[in-house]
Amino acid sequence: MIESTPRHSRIAGTGSALPPRRVDNVELAAELAERGIDTSDAWIVERTGIRARHFAAPEVNASDLAVQAARHALEAAGLQGSDIDLIVVATSTPDMTFPSTATIVQRKLGIVHGCPALDVQAVCSGFIYATTVADAMIRTGSARHALVIGAEVFSRILNFDDRTTCVLFGDGAGAVVLSASDTPGILATDLHADGRHLDILCTPGVVARGGVLGDPFLRMDGQAVFKLAVGVLESTARTVLEKAGRRETDIDWLVPHQANIRIMQSTARKLKLPMDKVIVTVDRHGNTSAASIPLAFDEAVRSGRIQRGDTVLLEGVGGGFTWGAVLLDF
Ligand code: UT7
Repeated sequence: MIESTPRHSRIAGTGSALPPRRVDNVELAAELAERGIDTSDAWIVERTGIRARHFAAPEVNASDLAVQAARHALEAAGLQGSDIDLIVVATSTPDMTFPSTATIVQRKLGIVHGCPALDVQAVCSGFIYATTVADAMIRTGSARHALVIGAEVFSRILNFDDRTTCVLFGDGAGAVVLSASDTPGILATDLHADGRHLDILCTPGVVARGGVLGDPFLRMDGQAVFKLAVGVLESTARTVLEKAGRRETDIDWLVPHQANIRIMQSTARKLKLPMDKVIVTVDRHGNTSAASIPLAFDEAVRSGRIQRGDTVLLEGVGGGFTWGAVLLDF
């Protein structure tokens, strides 16, 4: 039971997980060449900044990566699974059509006291959405310690005959424990969606009538996504700063969704942030969709770059179209 309603939530610990198989551009290009698909390390690096990504083994699901990341986050927070009273998993590559990946994570972590567990589907903005949901539930007193996880096995939905998408994505998971606190913590959040743009980034296939109806692979109009992304990432950053009563100069670190280095450079330029204040992992992870922000955040915390007390702006954009930001004091 929670005695009084807390005013804030704050990050008590972070964790992440990457599958061991690392595939660099040269190896991927060689594999694609065997299928008659022409690409190169030079093209991928120049257009995206990606040099390598990790691919999960066939038997490894999003929940397996989520559980590894969650264990690290729990350890960093000094908490046990039994302390958790909310699990929110952001994923677009769930283990099953149903039940939710969050309930599978709950089972694998041995959390048996009946806390709520739910998935959030906002594609690459998923972790921003999931954090906002958990923050709201903590501030209303419905939860005290929430596990918020982004976990993906995008390699499962890539069409390796489509060079315009298959070189971009990778697998991984990141997690945070968000805990009730008398001090912030999360300063402000900002979420948006615009369903008019759903066709430019989608995986339209569904399980129905005993098979998959429609295309089971990711499709993207890269240029259309790029144009929309640079605009909305600037506007959500400005809005979340305004909501929190902070300025661009208050930002110690920007942890953006890791889709393309050129999008990150553009956002940094617009916010007048030098690139050495931007956490970049896209070169080593590729785009891990909902996992990319918590993965990058955890790496930066563990390497000592992001420190306690730093002001951090998280922001993401993805299919739907969805976008949003979280501003926090770590
Ligand atoms: O996570 C959700 C958010 N997603 C994103 O933010 C992705 C946003 N979009 C992008 O990052 C970029 O648009 C891409 C990286 C996807 C593509 O970069 P681009 O600079 O927009 O390239 P493009 O689509 O204009 O393609 C340029 C050329 C084309 O050839 P032609 O028509 O000029 O002859 C493509 O066919 O590059 C060709 N191309 C490739 N060449 C070698 C496309 N993919 C490849 C490839 N290897 N893998």
